[in-house]
Amino acid sequence: MQLISGKAVSADIREKLAQENADFEREFGRAPALAVIIVGDDPASHTYVNNKIKGCAQVGFRSICQKYENGTPQEEIASYIRSLAEDDSVDGILVQLPLPKGYDEKYLLSLIPDSKDVDGFSPANTGLLSMNSPNTVSCTPLGIMHLLKSTGVELKGKDAVVIGRSNTVGKPMAMLLLNADCTVTVCHSKTVNLAEYTRKADIVVVAIGRPKFLKGDMVKDGAIVIDVGINRVDGKLVGDVDFDEVAPRCSYITPVPGGVGPMTITMLLANTLSAARHRLEK
Ligand code: GUN
Repeated sequence: MQLISGKAVSADIREKLAQENADFEREFGRAPALAVIIVGDDPASHTYVNNKIKGCAQVGFRSICQKYENGTPQEEIASYIRSLAEDDSVDGILVQLPLPKGYDEKYLLSLIPDSKDVDGFSPANTGLLSMNSPNTVSCTPLGIMHLLKSTGVELKGKDAVVIGRSNTVGKPMAMLLLNADCTVTVCHSKTVNLAEYTRKADIVVVAIGRPKFLKGDMVKDGAIVIDVGINRVDGKLVGDVDFDEVAPRCSYITPVPGGVGPMTITMLLANTLSAARHRLEK
């Protein structure tokens, strides 16, 4: 069994991004800029946003962080997103999810132009991915593809099972694996006999937010297992995979923490640089 270190893969990519940022600045006279909007006081969301801002600083990007209290009128936030959309010095706009109850997520996200949608959540970017001509791809699944590639294992023809069908992770993950010539099955909370699917899979990606859901007897020997879960149990971070049971059966597995997590923000930085290049090269 080998661990896939998201920390190491992520550090390599960030080093390259810092170099590419220097080239970008030389060419365009400024660094790429990311604007992040957060509403409310969810501690996990604030941690993620702080890490996004720190990530920008690490590779030399400019960042703007706008924090709103829960209860801020939706139209105030909408006007701000519209102003960022029109601001030529801003390359990426990200609204941290989930929004507190009462806000219309679809509406607020619809105000982000496709060209600045560094999360890859817009209908156009989602559609382009499903047509295998991707523009911007959702950060977590994109990071997982880098982790899979880092193993050197050929993906073509592999049986892949994705557990979870969220718009942000499960569905784009399934599309990326399909685009990489895997045979893909998406399992979810209504799947009957889920273990029958996972036991046949060469690759299992688990993204459901249920601590230690995937057990040792649910995977075949030699499988690659990717754990997207970040669950807090008694103050400790626990994945969706029962690591102690599953790891001995795997060829490769991602740890939690230090697996998928570090890749998500790195892909956000990569998406921000690409968005900036696309906009300014036009
Ligand atoms: N909340 C949890 N993950 C994400 C993400 O990738 N993007 C945004 N915008 N919000 C999130």
